[in-house]
Amino acid sequence: MSNKKRIGVLVSGGGTNLQALIDAQARGELTSGEIAVVVASKPGVFALERAAKAGIEGIVVERKSFSDKASFEAKLLEELSNRQIDILILAGFMLVLSDDFVKQFPDRIINVHPALIPSFCGDGFYGLHVHERALEYGVKVTGATVHFVNEVTDGGAIILQKAVEIPEGISAEDLQQKVMKEAEHILLPKAAELLCAGKVKRDGRRVMIYE
Ligand code: GRF
Repeated sequence: MSNKKRIGVLVSGGGTNLQALIDAQARGELTSGEIAVVVASKPGVFALERAAKAGIEGIVVERKSFSDKASFEAKLLEELSNRQIDILILAGFMLVLSDDFVKQFPDRIINVHPALIPSFCGDGFYGLHVHERALEYGVKVTGATVHFVNEVTDGGAIILQKAVEIPEGISAEDLQQKVMKEAEHILLPKAAELLCAGKVKRDGRRVMIYE
């Protein structure tokens, strides 16, 4: 049996970060883990098409099919356990997971956020809003962060960050694309490989990378 970690990628949208993971796997840059399943929080999202095209199983566990968060998470956990998933990657997953759920995967859930945490993060900072707020504030540098997931939105310990300069006059839409291309799509596969290879260790909020 392969000793690769089995990765579950949780998505809610277009899935460009999922695509970056698929491409890294195809290029041989994600070798310590393999994407075993893509779970979408709603049907019809383009990320599922990306998974299908790459020959990866895609399933839907829809929040609104369940009366409460606990039963939704129980179903999610069941689907992941059935597939012996070791590592969870949130790649544009729009729901906040409960503490109880997160405890099932200690230091084994990561998320990518399109800003340099602790700036422009937390509740309400998602999608284009993050970049609009960065432009409104007038920061000259933004970037992306890959962090462990805990029960606080964007609150877990930081694994990797990459800065992106903000050109004068850029639109929020163009900044979003720039941050994805120059930071998110590079950092997420890198963090996934490091985590699957056992090269990421956490001591409280401080994360050490053993490359
Ligand atoms: C990305 O900006 C990611 O950082 C954030 O949600 C967005 C998802 O985009 N968490 P995509 O679905 O990966 O294209």
